[in-house]
Amino acid sequence: MWWLLGRHFWLALAVSYALLGTGNGASSALGCYSRIFSFGDSLTDTGNYVRLTAKKNPSPYGAPPYGTTFFGHPTGRASDGRLVIDFIAQEFGLANVTAIQEGTAPSDFQHGANFAIISATANNGSFFAGKGMDITPFSLDTQMFWFRAHMQQLAAQNSNVLSDALVALGEIGGNDYNFAFSRGIPREKVRAFVPAVVEKLAATVEELIGMGARAFMVPGNLPFGCAPLYLRRFRSNSAGDYDPATGCLSWFNGFAEHHNRVLSKRLDQLRLLHPDVTIVYADWYGAMMSIFQDPGRLGITNTLLSCCGNQSVACGKPGCAVCNDPSTYGSWDGTHPTEAVYKVIADGVLHGPHASPLPLAKTCPPS
Ligand SMILES: *[C@@H]1O[C@H](CO)[C@@H](O)[C@H](O)[C@H]1NC(C)=O
Ligand SMILES: *[C@@H]1O[C@H](CO)[C@@H](O)[C@H](O)[C@H]1NC(C)=O
Ligand SMILES: *[C@@H]1O[C@H](CO)[C@@H](O)[C@H](O)[C@H]1NC(C)=O
Repeated sequence: MWWLLGRHFWLALAVSYALLGTGNGASSALGCYSRIFSFGDSLTDTGNYVRLTAKKNPSPYGAPPYGTTFFGHPTGRASDGRLVIDFIAQEFGLANVTAIQEGTAPSDFQHGANFAIISATANNGSFFAGKGMDITPFSLDTQMFWFRAHMQQLAAQNSNVLSDALVALGEIGGNDYNFAFSRGIPREKVRAFVPAVVEKLAATVEELIGMGARAFMVPGNLPFGCAPLYLRRFRSNSAGDYDPATGCLSWFNGFAEHHNRVLSKRLDQLRLLHPDVTIVYADWYGAMMSIFQDPGRLGITNTLLSCCGNQSVACGKPGCAVCNDPSTYGSWDGTHPTEAVYKVIADGVLHGPHASPLPLAKTCPPS
């Protein structure tokens, strides 16, 4: 008889309804994201660049053997398979966060949208003008411009799309430095870019919080001093330029470490200002260095070599050379990691230890 269930039962029922919150159960508290919005560069682009540039100038990133390991065909990802963002989406049950240039209708973006694009910088063209870098990049401002337009399009359907979304902000900023180094701009001058890059990221976090975002993953830079392209471009006769433990360029990695320290300190400040917002710093650098410091662990033996292409025939160009087993390589095409490396990074961020203040997967308690 239902009236025999007693008041504790009804109390328990009332409490569980309260815990479910006012919306649907899955979106209670901060956990269990309904969608992902991501921003970044070639480490996160899942098709935007190739889409935008296809007509003018077909990109090697849209040609085989890109995509060979996982998708079986080129998808516009600058790797042989999945990227960190794919593994994160998979973990949260949100496979296929659609690239913003690929979807057309709001129904294409049920799991969120990816604004990241190959070659993107954090700063915009006016920052680089007058610094010896005449570029008009797909900056973070460009991506936010697309994002605001997308939000307006979605607003008609659902006014609250940001409150239960995960925002993946980056990695972005690496190109601000890499482009400058490659143009021969002195290291001290490039070092002076760091505050502007970090402020651009912080301002974007603030803007997104103002729009209703409540959960962020913000990655630091990768150890590009271990990338085959930069090892070749900045080859040196001085043993002091190299880390004896890994063979990577010490000054280049030291630069990434500096950026990452400034960024994590800035994120600490943002957490204090916004105690109701989750901001996870994703230590992509530490996760990737764990491979260089212990080659062969996890089967990645060719840590400082690239699997696809070479100096004369780049990956994605007709006739480029490809290794037999990409999963044993640190680099896919000279600058971008293999899927195997992205998996190690994603695991470290999702489950620790390469995330702070807590592993990303813990921000979504199992329901
Ligand atoms: C996700 O996209 C990949 C690559 O385009 C495709 O192979 C896969 O079927 C898609 N998965 C879902 C669940 O739509
Ligand atoms: C470019 O960046 C600067 C500095 O962040 C900002 O003040 C300016 O509004 C940006 N320009 C555009 C077109 O977004
Ligand atoms: C680069 O790859 C091409 C195509 O496979 C090959 O013919 C050429 O010998 C390679 N060059 C070098 C320097 O390894």
